[in-house]
Amino acid sequence: MNDIIEKLVSQNPLTHSEFVSLLDANSEALRDKLADDANTLREKVFGTDIYIRGLIEFTNYCKNDCYYCGIRAGNSNAVRYRLTVDDILLCCEKGYDLGFRTFVLQGGEDPYFNDEKMVDIVARIRDRFPDCAITLSLGERSRESYEKLFSAGADRYLLREETSDEQHYKKLHPDNMSFNNRMECLKNLKDIGYQTGCGFMVGSPYQTHEDLASDLYFIQEFRPHMVGIGPYITHADTPFANKNNGTLEDTLLLISILRLINPELLLPATTSLGTIHPLGRELGIKAGANVVMPNLSPVGVRKQYMLYDNKICTGDEAAECINCMDKRMEAIGYKVVTSRGDSPFID
Ligand code: SAM
Ligand code: FES
Repeated sequence: MNDIIEKLVSQNPLTHSEFVSLLDANSEALRDKLADDANTLREKVFGTDIYIRGLIEFTNYCKNDCYYCGIRAGNSNAVRYRLTVDDILLCCEKGYDLGFRTFVLQGGEDPYFNDEKMVDIVARIRDRFPDCAITLSLGERSRESYEKLFSAGADRYLLREETSDEQHYKKLHPDNMSFNNRMECLKNLKDIGYQTGCGFMVGSPYQTHEDLASDLYFIQEFRPHMVGIGPYITHADTPFANKNNGTLEDTLLLISILRLINPELLLPATTSLGTIHPLGRELGIKAGANVVMPNLSPVGVRKQYMLYDNKICTGDEAAECINCMDKRMEAIGYKVVTSRGDSPFID
C-alpha cells in the first residue's frame, strides 16, 4: 500500500488496479494520511482560500428519467417550476451584492430552454456582470449548442459522467440514455474551451470499487478543471427509493484522492455531503475540497429542486447562506474569498 500512496502523493499516475487497492484499504488511518497530504498540496496552490459559487436552480423540468434523481420526468409528485430571465437576473444581482463572482445555472434537461432562450440568458448575464464567471449545468446538448453558449459568454460547464463504466451507467439510467453520448459531451466541452467539470455520485446503487476506480482513472486521463462528487442520497419517489445512501467516509477518501491526482482541481464540498452529515462540508474541505456552492435560487422554489430527500439549505435566504458559509469556513481556519476563482490550469 505504501508504494501506491507514495506514487499518488508524488503525482505519478496510478493504474486501475492500484486505485481499486486504495479504495479497498479505506480506513480511518488511510483517510487521515491522505487528507493530510491532500491539504499540504492544496494549500500550496490555493492557500486557505475557499471559492464560492452562487447556484441558481432555474428549472426542475426534465425530459430524462435517471433512476436516482428526484426531479426525473417520471416523478409525478414533483411540483415543477421555471424561473424567468428576470428572476435569474435578480438572483445574480442579489448574489453580486453579496460578493459572488461566479453564477452556476443548473437545471433539469428542459427542452423549453432551447438555444435561443439560453443564449439570451447567458448574453444578458454576461452583459450585466462582465467581471463574473458563468457556469452552466444543463446536461447533454449538441456540440453546436455548447459552442453557441460559449460564444454568448459562458465560461464553465459542469456535466458529471455519473459513472465511467458503461455497464454501471445502464443500471442507473433508462435505455434511451447513452453513456457514449455523455462522454462525447464532456470531450466536446473541454475541446470548445470551457473550464470543464465532471464527477460522480459516491455510493450510487450497484457501484463497485472497480467502477469508482474507473472514475478515478478517467479523471486522471481526462484532466478536467473541476470535479463534483457527493454521496448518493435516496429519494422516496424514485425507483431507487429503497437503496442505501453513499457514506461520508467513502466520499472523504475520494475527495482526498482527487486532490492528490490534481492539486489544481476545483473541488466542491457539496450540499449532498452537508446533507448526510451536519459538518459534511467542513469535513470535505479538510479532506481537500476548495469550493462551496451556496444557493441563490429564490426561497419560494428551493424545496421543489429536491434531487434527494432531506436536502439542506432549502429555507434560507441567500444572505443567510453566505453568512453561514463564511462562519463555517472561518471556524475551521479557511477563508471564503470573492474572486472568480478560475481554474489555475488550462490544458
Ligand atoms: N441536468 C443536469 C445534468 O444532468 O447534468 C444537471 C442537473 S442534475 C440534477 C445534477 C446532479 O445531481 C447530477 O449530475 C447527479 O450527480 C446529482 N444527483 C441527482 N440525483 C441525486 C441523488 N439522489 N443523490 C445525490 N446526487 C444526485
Ligand atoms: Fe434530469 Fe435529474 S433526471 S436532472
